[in-house]
Parts: sequence; structure tokens; C-alpha cells
Amino acid sequence: MRNHAFISPGDAVIVTGAAGGIGLATVKALLEQGNFVFASDKNIANLKQSLLELDPEGKHTLASELDVADEKACEAYCTMTAKSGRSIRGLVNNAAIGAFNMSVESTSFEDWERIIRINLTSLYLMSKYTVPQIRKAGGGAIVNVSSIHAFATSTGVSPYAAAKGGVLALTKTMALDYAKDCIRVVALIPGATDTPMLRMHAEREGKELSELGFIMSDNAIGRIAQPEELADVVTFGLSRKATFVTGSALVADGGILAKF
Ligand SMILES: NC(=O)c1ccc[n+]([C@@H]2O[C@H](COP(=O)([O-])OP(=O)(O)OC[C@H]3O[C@@H](n4cnc5c(N)ncnc54)[C@H](O)[C@@H]3O)[C@@H](O)[C@H]2O)c1
Repeated sequence: MRNHAFISPGDAVIVTGAAGGIGLATVKALLEQGNFVFASDKNIANLKQSLLELDPEGKHTLASELDVADEKACEAYCTMTAKSGRSIRGLVNNAAIGAFNMSVESTSFEDWERIIRINLTSLYLMSKYTVPQIRKAGGGAIVNVSSIHAFATSTGVSPYAAAKGGVLALTKTMALDYAKDCIRVVALIPGATDTPMLRMHAEREGKELSELGFIMSDNAIGRIAQPEELADVVTFGLSRKATFVTGSALVADGGILAKF
């Protein structure tokens, strides 16, 4: 019988896209649990600023600049975490970019490849170089951040929805490949969440967040999520409460997918 490992206080977790939104809320939740966090983001200035409040002395986090779309950078980053001497038991593949008003016709090949690389290929890269570390630590868990767009989508999000659907499929196959190593792999499926990504989308549309149609309309709960509500699901996925959960989609969408 396999003893499915989980993240305990003192273990280290790697979080990508940690400067804001769901990534930053996840760092906060992990620190509250007593974990060490390797926090990375392409925007190092924002990341350092955000972590100043959470970990002013830098004792429980290591902030690094990392573009998850850059293969060599991912490999070098994971070599650094492997050499840190810490017990790395978790990976949260969170970094992504939003992409709207993009049908297949209106999307250039260059943009298609860029979005797929950031939102899907990066998860392959970070997992490829982190799995050996989690295996060495005796097992653990990976949370891949997907989206409701993996299940039901809207107009103009072709590369984003394709990437997020791919994230869910990748999660399932990774769960099967690494069960023997006591590594669980789950997908987080957030609904609309109040983060810089969603606020930027509203701004581009020339609307307030409340005018995007998410609030008091689309989902059963009748509001959008706060990033902390998603971080709680991420930490559940990593935790000892989820030792029989793998290959699954952890949906936290306020009930939007429950509707016709
Ligand atoms: N906010 C939502 O409504 C929502 C809904 C469904 C899914 N999601 C997913 O949740 C995750 C977090 O999104 P968020 O809403 O917190 O967004 P966000 O924009 O607030 O945070 C994403 C972070 O990723 C970083 N990033 C972007 N490209 C990067 C790269 N190439 N390398 C490293 N870092 C990079 C950004 O700098 C940013 O700090 C994403 O995977 C997103 O697709 C968000």
C-alpha cells in the first residue's frame, strides 16, 4: 500500500507567479502553516514588495525572478532549489497570463505560441525539474492552476482555454505517472477571482470589476472569489487532509459550472 505523502510544517513549497493574486495568497497561507516558500515571479519588484509585508526578514521565503516560459531559467531555478538542502515536498504551478479577444483567426501564431508556452508548457517545465526533488524528499503534492475555461468557456479566449484544458489533462497523466512515487497531482479550477489579472481585464474592457457580469449574476454564490478562498483549496490539495485526492479537479467557482 502506498503511503501518500503530504506537506508538513517545515517542508518547502515552490510557488510560481507569487507576486500577487492567488499566488501571493497561497504564499501567505503556506507561511501560516509553517512552510518555507520558494516564491518566484517574472516581476521581481512586485514580488519583493509583496513579500516585505509577509516575511519582512526573509526568513521563511526566498524571492526569485523567474520567467516560467524560459526553459533554461526553469532548469537553473530548480537546480538552485535542489541545492538549498531543504525538503521540497510541494509545487504550485500558478503563473499565467490572461488573454482575451483572441479567436483562432485573430490570434497570430506568435501570440498563440507565447500564451501556450506561459500557460501550459511552463507547467511541464517546472514539474519536470521539481518532481525529482519531491521524490527525493519522500513524496508530496503538486497543484496545477487551471481554470473553469477547462470545462466551459466563452468567446475570444482560444489560447487561454486551450492551455487551461491542457493543464487539466496534464494533471491527470502526471497523477498516474507519479502515484508510485507518492506524489499526488491535482488541478485547481478557480472561477472569477478578484486579482490583478481580473482587474486588468476589466480595465481593458473599460468596465468596473462589478460590471463584468460575475457579480450578482453568473454563479450560485452571487459574488466573485477573494484570492484567499482559492489559496485555501490549494493548501487543502497539498495537505494531509487530501491523501486520497489525486488526478482531480478541485473546483472553487461559486457554482458557475453548475448552471446551464
Ligand atoms: N483571477 C481569476 O479570475 C482566475 C480565474 C481562473 C483561473 N485563474 C488562474 O489563476 C492563476 C493566478 O492568476 P491570478 O488571477 O492570481 O493572476 P495575477 O495576474 O494576479 O497573477 C499571476 C502572476 O503570474 C506572474 N506571471 C505572469 N507571467 C509569468 C511568467 N512568464 N513567469 C513567471 N511569472 C509570471 C505575474 O507577474 C503575476 O504576478 C493563473 O493560472 C490564472 O490563469 C485566475
